[in-house]
Amino acid sequence: MTSTARLQHRIDELAAIARVDDPVREIYGTSVSRLGLTADEQRARDAVAAWCAPHGARLRLDEAANFYARFPGTDPDAAVVLVGSHLDSVPMGGRFDGALGVCMAVEAVVSLVEAGARFARPVEVVGWADEEGARFGVGLFGSSAAFRRLPAHAAALTDKSGVSIADALRALNLSGDPTRAARDPKAIRAYLEPHIEQGPRLERAGLALGVVSDIVGIYHARVTIEGRADHAGATVMEARLDALVAATYAIQALERIAGSVPDAVGTVGEISVRPGAKNVVPGECTFSLDIRAPKQESIDRVKDELFDEMRQLMRGPDGRARSRGWKVENLHQVPVTPLDAGIREILVRSAREVGVEPPILISGAGHDAQNPSLAGIPTGMIFVRSTGGSHTPTELASTADAALGAQALELAIRELAGA
Ligand code: GLV
Ligand code: MN
Ligand code: MN
Repeated sequence: MTSTARLQHRIDELAAIARVDDPVREIYGTSVSRLGLTADEQRARDAVAAWCAPHGARLRLDEAANFYARFPGTDPDAAVVLVGSHLDSVPMGGRFDGALGVCMAVEAVVSLVEAGARFARPVEVVGWADEEGARFGVGLFGSSAAFRRLPAHAAALTDKSGVSIADALRALNLSGDPTRAARDPKAIRAYLEPHIEQGPRLERAGLALGVVSDIVGIYHARVTIEGRADHAGATVMEARLDALVAATYAIQALERIAGSVPDAVGTVGEISVRPGAKNVVPGECTFSLDIRAPKQESIDRVKDELFDEMRQLMRGPDGRARSRGWKVENLHQVPVTPLDAGIREILVRSAREVGVEPPILISGAGHDAQNPSLAGIPTGMIFVRSTGGSHTPTELASTADAALGAQALELAIRELAGA
């Protein structure tokens, strides 16, 4: 039997790991900053391991720091049913994005085991590493490694302090080569991911659960504009090549262009200037690009229009250059991902059995589910109603909704694992 109290306890336990009490409380209050490939993320894996081990699970950490808890099946060689989500968060994020899905997966599998279910095929709970990509810039890191979709040379990417992904993995006593985490997609019967919705549609519909049909495509890049550092007092306005001012034109162009393409969104969430002093005209400005849409041609349209416009903008209105040059580094591209129709049917039926007629939703957030799906594994996602936005401490899902989702998941696992 799914236990709401146990689920609540485990949500709280993970939320206490890397919890941050911001001194500017009225802005952030209490948040979670559990970045990927850190000791904090490892503590979360240790907590999940302690929940699973007493129920006969075999525990494994792969070379990309993904955590697996394998519950045996009567045929040990049968393709497994994989179920889970990610254990990292964005900086100053909430308690639910990722973590809730892992808590729900454990709750569903453990309650089946407690009820004496004997799985025909093994069932694995997974806690993916570094889904958010907040530290090294590559999102869906762990699942990309597991399904051979890491960008080339990903292990060499560094965080702000110059620590590489390979270094971070070695600090977790791993080899430093995440490509060794690759697994055979044929050995996986299905992947199921429970997750909060992160948007308002379920709340507006007054429904606790939804089922996902497709996940948006994502383009991530880093843009660097080179201007000229100079004295903030002695340099007349007409003589400046201010890289930050040039970036502001590009950022406004992105807002306008993404707003003109149906269903597309564009965000600059990181920006930094060098040298970064109040009395120095910024010599260099680097900012992130996050462009998403449910159709690849819409992503391409936003990118193409933005870069065309930047070519104009960098010249300035009077033809005078605004910068000495600019470059775009592509960090990661995840294609638009349709999920499996058969698994969707199973999830819809399972939700109905717990009393919810689930709407079919397209996810505007990226998910680890994209990687197994793109590797050909039948994949499905179940969303739990959430309020308060997401990637912010105000994100909120009720434990009652999560418990209902875990019950639906239990039914789907039962069907897929032959219990
Ligand atoms: C992950 O949450 C993403 O959609 O970027
Ligand atoms: Mn997530
Ligand atoms: Mn997220």
